[in-house]
Amino acid sequence: MYENGTIFIADSDAKTRDLVSAFLTYQGHNIAAPEPNLPFFDALEKNNVDIVIADTGYLRKVAPDFGDKSQLLNPLLVLIGYGDVTASELKQHSSETVFNLPKPLNLDELESLVLRAREYQSMKIYDSSTGCVANNKFLSGTMIGKSSPMQELFEMITKVAASNATVLIQGESGTGKELAARAIHQLSDRHTKNFVPVNCAAIPDDLLESELFGHVKGSFTGAYANRIGRFEMADKGTLFLDEIGDMKANLQVKLLRVLQNREFEPVGASKSQKVDVRIIAATNKNLEELVVSRDFREDLYYRLSVIPITIPPLRERSEDIPLLIHTFLTRFNDDKRHAVKGFSRDALGILCNYVWPGNVRELENLVERLVILKGSGLIVPDDLPEKYLSGKQPSAVPVQSVTLQADNVLPKDGICLNSAVDEFENNLIMQALVRAGGNKKEAALLLNLKRTTLIEKLKKKNLVFNED
Ligand SMILES: Nc1ncnc2c1ncn2[C@@H]1O[C@H](COP(=O)(O)OP(=O)(O)OP(=O)(O)O)[C@@H](O)[C@H]1O
Ligand SMILES: [Mg+2]
Repeated sequence: MYENGTIFIADSDAKTRDLVSAFLTYQGHNIAAPEPNLPFFDALEKNNVDIVIADTGYLRKVAPDFGDKSQLLNPLLVLIGYGDVTASELKQHSSETVFNLPKPLNLDELESLVLRAREYQSMKIYDSSTGCVANNKFLSGTMIGKSSPMQELFEMITKVAASNATVLIQGESGTGKELAARAIHQLSDRHTKNFVPVNCAAIPDDLLESELFGHVKGSFTGAYANRIGRFEMADKGTLFLDEIGDMKANLQVKLLRVLQNREFEPVGASKSQKVDVRIIAATNKNLEELVVSRDFREDLYYRLSVIPITIPPLRERSEDIPLLIHTFLTRFNDDKRHAVKGFSRDALGILCNYVWPGNVRELENLVERLVILKGSGLIVPDDLPEKYLSGKQPSAVPVQSVTLQADNVLPKDGICLNSAVDEFENNLIMQALVRAGGNKKEAALLLNLKRTTLIEKLKKKNLVFNED
């Protein structure tokens, strides 16, 4: 959806249409515009449209039944609600979120709204078998496991899904916390509504409050328009607060209030808003320890851990490894049209005895890499990267943290400032990529960069992300 979707620009004012069109084309988006003699909805279907940027006056003229019909065209997102129809009015007609972009047009705001709309769209996919909007990640990847800890986990997930209770999922990195959260949502009555993830560690502190609760126009510099937050997006659905252990103290207080009263205030708003969300939180940190060290509020911890779930690390359920390898192998063979037959007994033995500090994610990435590199035949020990063969226990932290010491001294003979700065930058970029599991969007957020800027930097610096 993210790559293929087209943005449809329908504005009666040709100047605005050309400007928006040129700007978004320059940003690398696929653009389409109304064609003479082709009805509005036919044009949407023909162009595989997932975002419509339209002025409401124009929309009324060319498609008076837009509000009703847009629901049939899921996934579809209306972006602009300027003109004489307010965004909230339009929202009553459409099951989708409407983003409001006021005139005169601000291109920075347009860019940020389009990125946000894309992100919102990428969370959903239209499932033709059930006729509802479902979560794409859950559809493409179900949880695998036959070991008894995983069987117990599945039982727990099924029970928990039937209730509305707040769930706290703990476990090492890459164990499947997000997958478990999505499974709970998918199995619950809320599955036709949104599953909205928020990565509390990836969003800069000063933006997290507005990200969660939304803001009203003019409440701070850069708040060009009203914006709804993730809580509102998740209304009647599930809000997934990932990396909750990284949430700052002042926001912990605000979150506690929402959990107690089920209401919140958008930044700059004078009235609070009711919301009906199921909260699932996750962290790979030990929250009990954070409570003891006073980095996490004890009252919030108890509110969140109504139902605590711990996902065991992969090394404690090595009987799942062959099954996981088989599943990933089938998937990557299909995806990439390769024909790797399988793993030799020796290779499988080595992998079953490995400690997997990166858990299932590491295993998944390894199988993908082996399928690409080998292409066909049987994978034998010689095909495995060195670290799996050496029998060494890899450290749980893949990259040592850079020492950002204030007392860095200038070497006696001086230094080449440019290459030192370059090296420092490379190191931080690679750390961010490792922490984000290779996800460039998340890594860019950690570095407070745009995803495209990060990709440009990687290209320019000739940096290749390789988890080895
Ligand atoms: N039991 C499982 N069966 C199949 N795939 C799994 C399983 N557990 C995890 N995965 C896959 O491993 C990857 C990591 O899973 P996920 O993102 O849910 O982990 P996580 O615990 O949230 O990691 P992190 O702490 O780094 O955020 C995903 O691609 C997921 O699909
Ligand atoms: Mg996660």
